[in-house]
Amino acid sequence: MTTHTAFVLNGEPVATQVRPDTTVLDLLRDHLGRKGTKEGCAEGDCGACTILFRRGGDAETPMLAANSCIMSVAQIDGGEIVTVEGLAGDGAVLNAVQDEMAKNGSSQCGFCTPGIAVALTGLLACNPDPDEDAIHDALAGNLCRCTGYRPIVDAARAAAARMRAEPAPAPATGENLVTSHTDAGGATAHRPRDLRGLLMLRRDHPDAVLLAGGTDLGVPLAGYETTWPETITTGHVAELRRVETGDGRWTFGAAVTWEEVLKAVAEDYPSFATLIRRFGSTQIRSMGTIGGNIGTASPIGDGPPALIALGATITLVSLEGGERTMRLEDFFLDYRKTELRPDEVIASVTVPRARAGEILRTYKISKRYDQDISTVCGAYWLAMDGGTVSDIRIAYGGMAATPKRASHAEAALRGKALTVATAREAGAALASDFKPLTDWRGSATYRERTAAGLLERLARDVAGETVEVMAL
Ligand SMILES: Cc1cc2nc3c(=O)[nH]c(=O)nc-3n(C[C@H](O)[C@H](O)[C@H](O)COP(=O)(O)OP(=O)(O)OC[C@H]3O[C@@H](n4cnc5c(N)ncnc54)[C@H](O)[C@@H]3O)c2cc1C
Ligand code: FES
Ligand code: FES
Repeated sequence: MTTHTAFVLNGEPVATQVRPDTTVLDLLRDHLGRKGTKEGCAEGDCGACTILFRRGGDAETPMLAANSCIMSVAQIDGGEIVTVEGLAGDGAVLNAVQDEMAKNGSSQCGFCTPGIAVALTGLLACNPDPDEDAIHDALAGNLCRCTGYRPIVDAARAAAARMRAEPAPAPATGENLVTSHTDAGGATAHRPRDLRGLLMLRRDHPDAVLLAGGTDLGVPLAGYETTWPETITTGHVAELRRVETGDGRWTFGAAVTWEEVLKAVAEDYPSFATLIRRFGSTQIRSMGTIGGNIGTASPIGDGPPALIALGATITLVSLEGGERTMRLEDFFLDYRKTELRPDEVIASVTVPRARAGEILRTYKISKRYDQDISTVCGAYWLAMDGGTVSDIRIAYGGMAATPKRASHAEAALRGKALTVATAREAGAALASDFKPLTDWRGSATYRERTAAGLLERLARDVAGETVEVMAL
């Protein structure tokens, strides 16, 4: 029985005996005295707690920015962490990002500054020559309330130029030492390495929390609203971490992160890639997984509408029942109710690749462009035969208790030309598909009008008329 969690912090091995359901932020600040990592919102929104993280077993992958406030100690065993204290490495005081932030006046009160320095260091480690969009993307999960972003972006550009001219030593990292479980402080974390091990644990510990990236589950943990006496993590299960390409489709293991999905789909489906780039922030996408997004079964999750429109299938697996594969749209039964049985896990999601004559568009409507969940998310897949819609799948999030197909709207467009007039007819048919709710994100009427408006936008977009709408 392993009673500690082992990981590498700023290049040095650390073993800790805190409970595995402690947040990494609390571990750093309260147990290891690393106070440079700040707590702002404690729910993954502000980026003050940003660290660089690499999972145990992922030695080849770069270290990515992640929110330590919603990450649990269960997830870091065998992994590597770099905090603001370790950015400079090799005994230096500041790295190029920190130095340029000081020179460019990129900090006033300083509360956001460590998180921003870490996030930008993470960006430059993956992308030494980022354009303006890439810098803004990397900062979408870091809120600064007093400096303003211009000097921060200037510092990022200056640091990138400096690092290209004289590459700085990479932040100190270490070795991987994943253990199979930790038992500390009355809480246990199991870390299976393969699917069979995961399924045995799932069968034997049906009440354990099944934890992937923790970007949904970690929010109540960070708010001290819950504890996890027993956790099973999926992040080290080799079969769940794979992306398989072949036969005109991708099969994404359930523990593949959104950042990894983004890389895979960007060329085939630029519109899906735009949607994924608006999925939380780099910090959220580097931890949040495709399986977790489906498993959480939120009616306003962004993955399911796009995946349903693409005709994705999902494979569930259990030790006793074996595998079953179904259309993703059939997985969702009712509000937060799914086909998943207590002894099952989501193994993978299979997504067809783009073929000639097919079109995919996705539109996310949220109160804020970045780092916000959808009020309405519309996804549209069309097969065109000349100017006629020969086949179509439309799926919406935010319009019902589950992500759902709009079969009446589809019928209104099938076999017709896609024009503003036919899109308006399809918009009217949505009344037979959905009876949306009013909540603080939007009224039922707002949702109905928005969903219909998006169909008109689809027609204009496909006809090449649409001006990019940034946020509504
Ligand atoms: C600040 C912030 C911004 C966000 N922005 C967005 C956004 O823009 N769009 C969006 O859709 N979501 C967003 N989310 C929600 C979240 O990031 C996603 O739903 C993410 O994909 C969840 O994945 P995860 O791996 O972190 O899941 P976890 O939190 O680890 O798990 C979520 C659920 O899925 C279950 N689960 C995980 N893996 C499996 C499996 N293999 N089999 C069965 N069940 C499984 C878990 O048991 C749990 O019930 C945001 C969250 C935060 C905190
Ligand atoms: S403290 Fe705000 S994202 Fe973690
Ligand atoms: S410098 Fe004050 S919040 Fe950014």
